Amino acid sequence: MITSRPLDEYCHLFGLTRSALCAVPGPVLDCPGGAAGLAAEARALGVRVVAADPAYAAPLTALTALARHGRDAMAASMTATPHLHLSPRYRPYERYLRSWDRARRLFAADSAAHPERYVAAALPRLPFADGSFALTLSSYLLFAYPGIFPPAGQLAALTELVRVTAPSGEARIYPLHDGTGRRCPHLDELRAALGRRRISSEIQRTPRPGDGRTRQVLVLRAAGHRRRPGPGISPRERAA
Ligand SMILES: C[S@@+](CC[C@H](N)C(=O)[O-])C[C@H]1O[C@@H](n2cnc3c(N)ncnc32)[C@H](O)[C@@H]1O
Repeated sequence: MITSRPLDEYCHLFGLTRSALCAVPGPVLDCPGGAAGLAAEARALGVRVVAADPAYAAPLTALTALARHGRDAMAASMTATPHLHLSPRYRPYERYLRSWDRARRLFAADSAAHPERYVAAALPRLPFADGSFALTLSSYLLFAYPGIFPPAGQLAALTELVRVTAPSGEARIYPLHDGTGRRCPHLDELRAALGRRRISSEIQRTPRPGDGRTRQVLVLRAAGHRRRPGPGISPRERAA
């Protein structure tokens, strides 16, 4: 499914803020980019984002039609399985879907004007040199669709995301559960295997606005590298 989340939703999902994103000292990778507004919206703030997704091999009209279908599927899911979504009391469904419509339009305009920002590529092999990005974001793929990515594929893809990220940077992955809300059952084994590849992992918990629950983001870094503070919301901000 191709989705079209806007920049502010990305920030909420990954435990980031707009200002933290603006302070990232280098280009940002969004993989999979889907029809998200992130690249277009962040560029307008001065942040250089490259999006990678195998769907970019398709003509733009076909891609935006699939993204429109993804939006309609989300609308249907909100009605059929409301327990999997934030309450409409906190975030009215119509307003949320409008934010996807806007992001999809921004994506379409930006990818037509700047196709070089949207690279057709599929995990677990990305056409970028080692350490190309200061921050790598990966939402709604590796754990959301375990049918596409069995454990060995997840390990290979996570390793690849870290490879293309600068040693001083980090890769953030969300969510850690599939479409039914089931948490990845072998996450501990995956983290242990990453550790053997000298990749450190941390699960950051950030409050989910609206229902008091927390979101869990997997943060990966090349182990042993003296790192600068990451762009995520600090524990003090989280507690506030
Ligand atoms: C649900 S969308 C997520 C898009 C965006 N990250 C978001 O959160 O809205 C999943 C995307 O993963 C892409 N995809 C599927 N297989 C992939 C692979 N092997 N490598 C990278 N992206 C892939 C699909 O084309 C689709 O655009």
